Amino acid sequence: MKLRPKLCIGISLAPTWLSGEGWRLPGSGIEGLYSSDFALETAKAAEAAHLDFVFRPDASFLPLPVMEQSFGFSSLDATLLMTAIARETAKIGLVTTISTTFGHPYIAARQLMSLHWLSQGRAGWNVVTALQGHENFGLPDMPSSDARYARAAEFTEVVRRLWASFPSDALVVDRAAGRYADTDLILPINHRGPDFQVQGPLNLPAFPGPGIPLMQAGGSATGVDFAGQVADMVFGMTPDLDTALKTRAQLSARAIAHRRAPRDLRLLPGLSLYLGKTRAEAQDLFAANHRRITRAQRIQRVTEATGLDLSTWPDDRPITLADLPKAPGGPRSAGHIALLRRIIETDQPTVEQLLARPEILASVHWQIIGTPEDAATEIIRWHEAGAIDGFIAVPGGAPQSLHLTLNDLVPRLRDAGHFRHAYQGDTLVSHLTEA
Ligand SMILES: Cc1cc2nc3c(=O)[nH]c(=O)nc-3n(C[C@H](O)[C@H](O)[C@H](O)COP(=O)(O)O)c2cc1C
Repeated sequence: MKLRPKLCIGISLAPTWLSGEGWRLPGSGIEGLYSSDFALETAKAAEAAHLDFVFRPDASFLPLPVMEQSFGFSSLDATLLMTAIARETAKIGLVTTISTTFGHPYIAARQLMSLHWLSQGRAGWNVVTALQGHENFGLPDMPSSDARYARAAEFTEVVRRLWASFPSDALVVDRAAGRYADTDLILPINHRGPDFQVQGPLNLPAFPGPGIPLMQAGGSATGVDFAGQVADMVFGMTPDLDTALKTRAQLSARAIAHRRAPRDLRLLPGLSLYLGKTRAEAQDLFAANHRRITRAQRIQRVTEATGLDLSTWPDDRPITLADLPKAPGGPRSAGHIALLRRIIETDQPTVEQLLARPEILASVHWQIIGTPEDAATEIIRWHEAGAIDGFIAVPGGAPQSLHLTLNDLVPRLRDAGHFRHAYQGDTLVSHLTEA
């Protein structure tokens, strides 16, 4: 049973529709990638389609080999980008990404509350523990998953306490009396923890309206528990309906364990959309977008996720679970490792078959390659099954996937009664809690 009647829909500003070969298409606009206009155009189109939010994933490292062929992880800073969008939009939520492994909670609390003020209540925070980048922050190695989540929990608590340390009603602004603020209400937090010592208060009052929703991305047991405790949204990696149903059930269980209502924790899987006017057009788009991924690169992806090196294996040799190393040490997330293990366990693919799978080739997200009608049917099926509360659109292959998502798929979802006709409020919280 679905937990909410309407879908919550966000869109990634990554811009995934130009990755692979997409940027090479005439009119892709790639030259403007590092300008604000580029993301702004997408944000305005997403607002016209009444989406809940635009979302910018972010990373603090640059894998170089990818840059020969595409823009990889090069990008503007996610939070600064959102401030540029804030002034030019009025309703749509702005979800930025800040890592708890590399950042500091005082700076994060201030940046996020600044974005919240600048957008008049539309900021959201994607809390990530990050998978790589330690070399840029003076760390000898990536901290373990447990250490990263322990720090994330402390980081998040400090941020929330800092937001509360200077409540908006402490602002008096009485010209006649010459009194600006009631300092009895602005209190230090005096936090002393294993990773952070923060006295507070924050040097910025809280925005006088609904707060800043939190998104979490990370699928390990600790990650799911962390989501159950603090998140309003989960950016999930659920490539099939069964995984989505299981993830939804796990999130509900962890929400209840933390005395929260399951419907207040929204599962929003990434949804990779290769869309065309016909199925053949969509499939051609997918194939064209991956034509330059070499065998060596595919093998590398398998090694990163499973620890298994297939470089000397013949194409026709089947792979079984017994072939996988016990403790893969690669930089991929637990969810991706589990996904590849599941494929190997159920299908026992040959090397050739495994290397051709979309889960290796492209996104490890839920993936639809077809027409907007195909996509609407599939999304409604998952929603009706109670597996998802919405999704984060990750259009792929070409700008046409982005345009068809916003101008054809979303209106279909709306006309079928699964999405809003118009915004009812002006803040991200109001969009998330509409129904
Ligand atoms: C769908 C998804 C999106 C993610 N997005 C980001 C991101 O934008 N930036 C980042 O540094 N890490 C990102 N991560 C990594 C997570 O924050 C986390 O470090 C990783 O998933 C390991 O945690 P896990 O073992 O609980 O999955 C993402 C993970 C997932 C599953």
